[in-house]
Amino acid sequence: MSTSAQPRVTLKLATSLDGKIALSNGQSKWITGPESRAEVHRMRAAHDAILTGVGTILADDPEFTARTDPMPEKQPDLIVLDSKLRTPVTSRILQPFGRSVRVYHCEAAPPSKDPAFYERKARLQDAGAVVIDGGFYDSRPDLEWVLEHLANSYGQLMVEAGQGVTGRFVEWDLADRLVWFRAPKILGKRAIDALDVWPGLESLDLAPIFHRISVTERGDDLQETYERIR
Ligand SMILES: NC(=O)c1ccc[n+]([C@@H]2O[C@H](COP(=O)([O-])OP(=O)(O)OC[C@H]3O[C@@H](n4cnc5c(N)ncnc54)[C@H](OP(=O)(O)O)[C@@H]3O)[C@@H](O)[C@H]2O)c1
Repeated sequence: MSTSAQPRVTLKLATSLDGKIALSNGQSKWITGPESRAEVHRMRAAHDAILTGVGTILADDPEFTARTDPMPEKQPDLIVLDSKLRTPVTSRILQPFGRSVRVYHCEAAPPSKDPAFYERKARLQDAGAVVIDGGFYDSRPDLEWVLEHLANSYGQLMVEAGQGVTGRFVEWDLADRLVWFRAPKILGKRAIDALDVWPGLESLDLAPIFHRISVTERGDDLQETYERIR
């Protein structure tokens, strides 16, 4: 659960009507329309930092910049959760956008003992990333520790990630707000779900409840905004 020791966390999701973020072949550009994407840029500009997972970097090689009109005075910083430092040094996130890029890894995870891990670490640092040991939970950075660490620098954090990282934020009840862009498309059961969460809840009473605070039309899409009820 988000506390004062954590930034306020907004999860952004962009899905089909049936809650999918990509086809099984990885194609995800573009599920939602230009009006939704423009709003995502405005959201980025309004946050201190954007957090993603290495899966999104490897799949899409996004910039994660806020491209608004006018452009923001400063780009939001970027945070990547990347246990084994698989982020390529050629990634577009490492282009000089005048922001800080932090990569939280998991030095205690057994694969990290590999000398190649330390070579990748040095290359990422040379490319300008701040590389931080994010603790250890289940062979990955400890999300709660990372959020407490981020709270020293940021008040407003936007999470834009795939089903793995987004799912962990929901599963661990770390999201304060969901902003869900839903396009009028159906991608079917082989497409990738927005959230990789619990294998199966045993009771509806265990399902986290969100309170819808607004619904806005964005072209053919809907933007639904929810606050977590605790
Ligand atoms: N529609 C949307 O809103 C949207 C947004 C972003 C991405 N996507 C799509 O999502 C797909 C990628 O999904 P994904 O699940 O691979 O991406 P992801 O959630 O961005 O990254 C997942 C990876 O993050 C790493 N990670 C580090 N710490 C973690 C932690 N505590 N919990 C969970 N993961 C952690 C893991 O790799 P390590 O174990 O190596 O650390 C994990 O495999 C792509 O198809 C992309 O297009 C859609």
